[in-house]
Amino acid sequence: MCSWFFLVLFSFTRTGLVKPCRLLSPLPVVQISERPLVHQESLLKLPVPPLQQTCVRYLASLEPLISEEEMTHTHKLMDEFLRPGGVGERLQKSLERRARKTENWLTDWWMQSSYLDSRMPVAMYTSPGVVLPKMHLQDRQGQMRFAAKLIAGVLDFKSMIDSDTLPVEYLGGKPLCMDQYYRVLSSCRIPGPKRDTVVNYAIGKTPPTHITVVHNFQFFVLDVYNSDGSPLTVDQLYVQLEKIWNSSLQTNKEPVGILTSNHRNTWGKAYNNLIKDKTNKESVRAIQKSIFTVCLDAPKPRVSDEMYFNKVAAQMLHGGGSRWNSGNRWFDKTLQFIIGEDGSCGLTYEHAPAEGPPIVFLVDHVVDYMKRSEMVRTPMIPLSMPQKLRFNITPEIKKDIEKAKQNMNIMVHDLDVRVLNFTHYGRKFPKSHKMSPDAFIQMAFQLAYYRMYQTCCPTYESTSLRMFKLGRTEAIRSTTTESLQFTKAMDDPSKHKAALLEKAIKVHRKHTHMAIHGQGIERHMLGLKMIAIEDLTSLPEIFMDTSFAVASHFNLYTSQVGSKTDCVMCLGPMVPDGYGICYNPMDDHINFAVTAFNSCEETNATKLSQFLEDSLLDMKTLLEQVSKTQ
Ligand code: COA
Repeated sequence: MCSWFFLVLFSFTRTGLVKPCRLLSPLPVVQISERPLVHQESLLKLPVPPLQQTCVRYLASLEPLISEEEMTHTHKLMDEFLRPGGVGERLQKSLERRARKTENWLTDWWMQSSYLDSRMPVAMYTSPGVVLPKMHLQDRQGQMRFAAKLIAGVLDFKSMIDSDTLPVEYLGGKPLCMDQYYRVLSSCRIPGPKRDTVVNYAIGKTPPTHITVVHNFQFFVLDVYNSDGSPLTVDQLYVQLEKIWNSSLQTNKEPVGILTSNHRNTWGKAYNNLIKDKTNKESVRAIQKSIFTVCLDAPKPRVSDEMYFNKVAAQMLHGGGSRWNSGNRWFDKTLQFIIGEDGSCGLTYEHAPAEGPPIVFLVDHVVDYMKRSEMVRTPMIPLSMPQKLRFNITPEIKKDIEKAKQNMNIMVHDLDVRVLNFTHYGRKFPKSHKMSPDAFIQMAFQLAYYRMYQTCCPTYESTSLRMFKLGRTEAIRSTTTESLQFTKAMDDPSKHKAALLEKAIKVHRKHTHMAIHGQGIERHMLGLKMIAIEDLTSLPEIFMDTSFAVASHFNLYTSQVGSKTDCVMCLGPMVPDGYGICYNPMDDHINFAVTAFNSCEETNATKLSQFLEDSLLDMKTLLEQVSKTQ
């Protein structure tokens, strides 16, 4: 999440000017509130950018990435696509019609094509992890107390959602869509044979009052409200967690949860098989319906300080394998907080309902809450034992679990995760040189990649579309002709590098501005393609062109998720020979998490992190040298 996000948010919180409200969504895959939409009504509808503009910008984005010969061919295809009265115009008109008829022409398609249709496992492939600073927990009691406070903090956040007092965020004077906040609690993804769904239980007649806690692969229902509707206090939660811990000491239980880490078709079949049994079905439903899940993880093998955060990031992304904590999850659950006995903590979330920024905003709230002293008096009412969820494991289910374990272990071995805590400077430095920190960091990615491979690659940066009703994300293509000129010049003493860096950053900023204002290339191209699939008998050639495939193969998949908390989000690469990079620019340091697949010989997360660190240092030296000579 970007820093203006907080600024605006907090100024509004202080003035108390905004009346937030629950939101309505047209998405058929998610059940949500039907309350009136006071705030939502003021939001703009996502526009469809002009066809000519997108096509010209698309061609320009190909320039650094494809050969002259391919470019000539693509130009020909584009001329044909844009012919007056041709297919491009037809698709554009259809898309504009869809935009008039729907609240958001993109979001439904986006949710389906990016998440619910994807058959890849959610763990590592689409679900991000968030690594929080290490907690110095002395013992098991420390783990329980920490977990109790964390639960209380999330419930405090939930109370803002329930009472419609969640402050509306603003950007550049315009309100942002708050819809995603209403989707992250009490929701869960459900596997389907071809497409998954997400169900939100918050708005039914009986919204859930329980969370699920998992320890040693055993799930428990923990009611978190007293009979008078007040949330359990930290002390009450602590007592309940102790009970759970003490009744889940056996470590030989079947890790049913690991089934959720599988390929979606495989899990879909196993799911139907699992819920044939009535007890299993009730247990699964209790997990799905719960407000969120807390995973009390077993300690991991000890590692050096240098490796510690890499291991925690891996724990958040996949749990470390079937021997460790991968079975201590329900990966379909939207929100799972993870607290290790060894002080590791963070969360993983299923991406379909929401983006990173609302999640880390929730985290910031929880972290703030946990710092406050506990003043609440605990009621003396004895609480009943949290219910243990039972599973009847048939030989067939056992076989599915074994397959899921094998698959998870292969995935775990394949993922290389590096957390880079860059301490030499933070976002204050580029700002002091009148440069956008985000664009500066993106150029450092470009330089690092170029130095490692002597070429550039398609790069994806997520940006927000939340200025628009039900907006999710757009993507900026960070590799530009200007970024390539800069990276090539950087190691050439004859070039005026600082000017090239400045130019590349300006171009990136312009692209960012266009993207957040609904004028990006990526989602418009997706819209044209989707409408072609719906309306035409065959896809226009422009989408079957090699250049289209090359430019959409994002070897660098990057996302800034800024927060007040000193944390970092992590996600897996988008393509087998690529990298996933998340970053959180703080004032005086920057947290990065870089991932790559070990099975790809060409990628290496450690090496890229090293190039990134060197690039950031060299870019600083460059700007300082220029400042001295001015
Ligand atoms: N000179 C001085 N300061 C500048 C500057 C310049 N030329 N350009 C920008 N800045 C300042 C900004 O004013 C801002 O100041 P603040 O810290 O006081 O608020 C700060 O630098 C940061 O701005 P910048 O780095 O340019 O980027 P951003 O914060 O606007 O973030 C995006 C850019 C693309 C990350 C953001 O717009 C966005 O979309 N975030 C959401 C990403 C997302 O949804 N990810 C999905 C994850 S699942």
